[in-house]
Amino acid sequence: MTQGEQLALDSGCTACHGSNGEGGVGPGWQGLYQSEVTLEDGSTVVVDEAYLFEAIRDPSAKTRDGYGVMPANSLDDAEVQAIVDFIITLK
Ligand code: HEC
Repeated sequence: MTQGEQLALDSGCTACHGSNGEGGVGPGWQGLYQSEVTLEDGSTVVVDEAYLFEAIRDPSAKTRDGYGVMPANSLDDAEVQAIVDFIITLK
């Protein structure tokens, strides 16, 4: 298991995003990277590394249409980056 995968488990992320990133209360992570998503304000963005980083760092900055609220966390930048790297591998 990679550090990012372990962190996602330990930080409780998988409770909402699925143990294999298949999604649940929160959007799925599988195939998320480089996909086009719709935000709450109706705009669309293509998910890149910076988007993933911000989504975890500051969950309320940009929110997905059709989903509830993601709670804040106390991960540091290195931990957020490790999880971002993990999500990118979930094709
Ligand atoms: C209580 C449920 C819950 C938990 C726990 C949670 N999330 Fe979320 N997450 C959500 C919801 C709901 C959204 C959609 C709203 C938004 O974009 O903020 C979301 C959005 C995201 C997104 C952006 C997805 C997209 O398609 O735009 C990422 C990345 C993400 N979460 C990662 C994480 C990580 C990493 C953790 C653990 C530190 C985590 N989440 C914990 C519910 C959760």
